[in-house]
Amino acid sequence: QTTVEPTSAERAEKLQGMGCKRKRVEDIRFTQGKGNYVDDVKLPGMLFGDFVRSSHAHARIKSIDTSKAKALPGVLAVLTAADLKPLNLHYMPTLAGDVQAVLADEKVLFQNQEVAFVVAKDRYIAADAIELVEIDYEPLPVLVDPFKAMEPDAPLLREDIKDKMTGAHGARKHHNHIFCWEIGDKEGTDAAFAKADVVSKDMFTYHRVHPSPLETCQCVASMDKIRGELTLWGTFQAPHVIRTVVSLISGLPEHKIHVIAPDIGGGFGNKVGAYSGYVCAVVASIVLGVPVKWVEDRMENLSTTSFARDYHMTTELAATRDGKILAMRCHVLADHGAFDACADPSKWPAGFMNICTGSYDMPVAHLAVDGVYTNKASGGVAYRCSFRVTEAVYAIERAIETLAQRLGMDSADLRIKNFIQPEQFPYQAPLGWEYDSGNYPLAMKKAMDTVGYRQLRAEQKARQEAFRRGETREIMGIGISFFTEIVGAGPSKNCDILGVSMFDSAEIRIHPTGSVIARMGTKSQGQGHETTYAQIIATELGIPADDIMIEEGNTDTAPYGLGTYGSRSTPTAGAATAVAARKIKAKAQMIAAHMLEVHEGDLEWDVDRFRVKGLPEKFKTMKELAWASYNSPPPNLEPGLEAVNYYDPPNLTYPFGAYFCIMDIDVDTGVAKTRRFYALDDCGTRINPMIIEGQVHGGLTEAFAVAMGQEIRYDEQGNVLGASFMDFFLPTAVETPKWETDYTVTPSPHHPIGAKGVGESPHVGGVPCFSNAVNDAYAFLNAGHIQMPHDAWRLWKVGERLGLHV
Ligand code: CDP
Repeated sequence: QTTVEPTSAERAEKLQGMGCKRKRVEDIRFTQGKGNYVDDVKLPGMLFGDFVRSSHAHARIKSIDTSKAKALPGVLAVLTAADLKPLNLHYMPTLAGDVQAVLADEKVLFQNQEVAFVVAKDRYIAADAIELVEIDYEPLPVLVDPFKAMEPDAPLLREDIKDKMTGAHGARKHHNHIFCWEIGDKEGTDAAFAKADVVSKDMFTYHRVHPSPLETCQCVASMDKIRGELTLWGTFQAPHVIRTVVSLISGLPEHKIHVIAPDIGGGFGNKVGAYSGYVCAVVASIVLGVPVKWVEDRMENLSTTSFARDYHMTTELAATRDGKILAMRCHVLADHGAFDACADPSKWPAGFMNICTGSYDMPVAHLAVDGVYTNKASGGVAYRCSFRVTEAVYAIERAIETLAQRLGMDSADLRIKNFIQPEQFPYQAPLGWEYDSGNYPLAMKKAMDTVGYRQLRAEQKARQEAFRRGETREIMGIGISFFTEIVGAGPSKNCDILGVSMFDSAEIRIHPTGSVIARMGTKSQGQGHETTYAQIIATELGIPADDIMIEEGNTDTAPYGLGTYGSRSTPTAGAATAVAARKIKAKAQMIAAHMLEVHEGDLEWDVDRFRVKGLPEKFKTMKELAWASYNSPPPNLEPGLEAVNYYDPPNLTYPFGAYFCIMDIDVDTGVAKTRRFYALDDCGTRINPMIIEGQVHGGLTEAFAVAMGQEIRYDEQGNVLGASFMDFFLPTAVETPKWETDYTVTPSPHHPIGAKGVGESPHVGGVPCFSNAVNDAYAFLNAGHIQMPHDAWRLWKVGERLGLHV
């Protein structure tokens, strides 16, 4: 019986490499309840910490009496700022160059702020003890409106820095001012506006929301006093950064700190920063010499750990009468809450807001962002977006729509007229970025043809006439969003965190039998890294993905990396993985040449083997080469087959997409129904189309949530509204529309495998698409810009304002 050698294509298919819809390997444990999350960590003698939190948004602390709490059996300690002060730990540095109170020092600045940390034998005793801590407050005037924060007689919030009139990003203009960041050509922009036929100006508010991962923030700190070593398990999107920060804050040498991020139940930006819970758990473990666990509940997560957005964006476009955009001007008032704890690369106080010129070619632009303090929780994290990109895309995609209305032009045509053209890439944007690649007209055409855009506009016109005649109470909106993202932070010339440049890394080791362990500096929170990094290696090295184990999150074993957020994993660690694999392949080629007794140049790669050019029957597979590398390496070549790469990307990557949303709104109830949502994404080379589809579904669902209802609101007294899932809209399968996905492929020219990030694109593009659909539905009634969120109550109010209700 003769066996037929599989063809190259058959062998390639078996690898389950790039382009394959490989099933997620991590789901085997997740779907069987076998994940290993922080709250699964149970150590002998472990104690539980929990916070006493402020009931006031702004108040002076006159006294704290912990005696009754300390007397409760099972309570081991109650920490206050007074206990942390001698250690200089009552404040901690933020990633944004500010400091943040670990425990409230003399006054509280937002509701639910951490005031004391109770450590007890179990969570129940801790909860009881919290009730026994007595705090005497003197209420102070509360500031929740960022516009009022800059008024001359506005209450002073940050007494700790009242005399510090220079912040991390230059001069502070006012006692509640944090920074002003200006970029672009102001004079040139003013001149272009002066000459324009049409100036379109609106104020777009992107309301305060929260990433709300299903698993809240948590940690277990365990100090081994004998070894002088601290182990910290936590929900960390960037474990190495946490290790460095803990070392800097605590003074413990970095090699004596072991940070472990086990499985994480969603991050979306919420788990990037450092929180009081981490510091207090570490201090308590050092003081008490036993492990201490801290686990947030839902209300604590929503009301105290990092919020997102809260940008008030006055946006102007200057254009000719026939719709050529000449310039953009944007001023943002950014509400940062009580401390500037934004999680951005250190140089960028407003993240990548300067991508706000979007997908459009315009010669000049100017952007200014003022950050201010208010009596709200601090944060400003990139909730499923690459640092403020979603705000930027919202501003430009709403501005395009309102300009189109003022010009009396179709908004799809206005976009097409102003697109950066394929031949303009790499494209130098007026606010500083160099877009790597794109084909916007192609993507837009595919999307418009698929949804039948012109027919939809005709239908909408007919429906508007029927509405005017009183034949229907429903109005129809067509939402468009054509977005450009900027992901993969980032090149060391652009991006660092506290001085550490934002490279990422991969280390690959081939075992003698040809299977693999690979470790990266990133950390999956559900994105499927264990599945997809293996696919990159499978294709690069010809080893089946099933024989490759991916490990992240343990700082003792993983190479240093800056973590996972801002869709950076594929552009950075994905690139590092390909480069490390190529180093291994180069060594394998030397071994193959030695074994086959030919010159290296006489070999060619064929899926999973090196073969002799012109003699395909003479080959050595990667499996054979792996064995040989340990067993009989060529003379003068060290044994083994492993490589590491620290990848400093030459540029960021610029994924893009064309989204369409068709929506029907009942003006009497304000209920909006998404009839169709079509999302075309271009993320360059696609590693796993099924995972990409999942990422797009998830991102669109969060976009739907944000645009249509999610909000962290405050009343005049600074009471936080929306701090539970009763009030904070988290869509389930019942509310979520059906998603239709599509793609084009424009590889990144500088990425080793041509891939761009994708995780956040659907959120970034989705929010303006929903909002544009709502606004488009009401536009023929001259509603003006309607602010998000577009829940039924608010849309009903729009109907009332317009006198539509019968
Ligand atoms: O940094 P994060 O993992 O959140 O975002 P990402 O780099 O966009 O990757 C999200 C998931 O999509 C990962 O599992 C990637 O491997 C996958 N992906 C892909 O299959 N193809 C791409 N071109 C980009 C991402």
